[in-house]
Amino acid sequence: MKVRTVFSTVESLQNRLKNAGKSNGIAFVPTMGALHQGHIELVKQALDLSETVVVSIFVNPTQFNSKEDLQNYPRTLENDLKLLETARDVIVFAPAVEEMYPPNFKTIDVELGELANVMEGKFRPGHFSGVMNVVHRLFEIVQPTFALFGEKDFQQLAVIRRMVEQLKLDVQIVPCETIRETSGLARSSRNQRLNSEELEDSLIIIESMRYAQSLVEQYSPQEVAEKTIDYFNKGKLRLEYLEIVNPTNLQPLYEWTSGARICIAAYCNEVRLIDNMELIK
Ligand code: PAF
Repeated sequence: MKVRTVFSTVESLQNRLKNAGKSNGIAFVPTMGALHQGHIELVKQALDLSETVVVSIFVNPTQFNSKEDLQNYPRTLENDLKLLETARDVIVFAPAVEEMYPPNFKTIDVELGELANVMEGKFRPGHFSGVMNVVHRLFEIVQPTFALFGEKDFQQLAVIRRMVEQLKLDVQIVPCETIRETSGLARSSRNQRLNSEELEDSLIIIESMRYAQSLVEQYSPQEVAEKTIDYFNKGKLRLEYLEIVNPTNLQPLYEWTSGARICIAAYCNEVRLIDNMELIK
């Protein structure tokens, strides 16, 4: 089946959704486009949950920390729509900035507490405020029963859960496993900006996470983190952070706990990559 129409206004989308989702609600996959197999997996899982699936494609300016990053973010709407054709009927919402942020737009304020100042929160000030505001606005527009998010953005998932909890939003957040290339590199829209040598260099991320996994029986989380940083630095990427954290509050771990996560952010030349993996003891 094919994607039929791309809705670009709130009004047209809401008209389309008026009688939709009666039996099993609406499943929603928010994206910034430049879709890849990881997104398609989210869409497939959404289709398992509900007959009505909405995919939004919107490069949200308020969550970027630099103008350059925003400018360089890949925009590939035509390809995105082609890729979505492989995933049955979905409703695509691709609004312009003015549609998402009208003059009467009101920002929300959520107390992120301990989630705010670690990892992405620390290195990308304002990023999560941008993410929460756009996701909240999208939720208001789509009124989903389910919203699906990839675990690759592990902290984003925690932040969105916190927002849903604090604002008592009536939506079920569904986490989806990270989809990887056969090389082990996590699928990401940013991978499109890597040449073949850089793709190769970026494998240090998955190799480091596997190295960390090989050490958990012998060492404490902090020792594993230190050794893994040394290992990572033998590669060519510039490390921003490598932390082993509690999966719920994302604070650095000093003793092993179930679901411990290693989280990495690093630059491959100009391209910032993030990834994470559960470490199993
Ligand atoms: O994960 C993303 O692609 C974005 O942060 C999201 C959730 C679509 C909000 O712009």
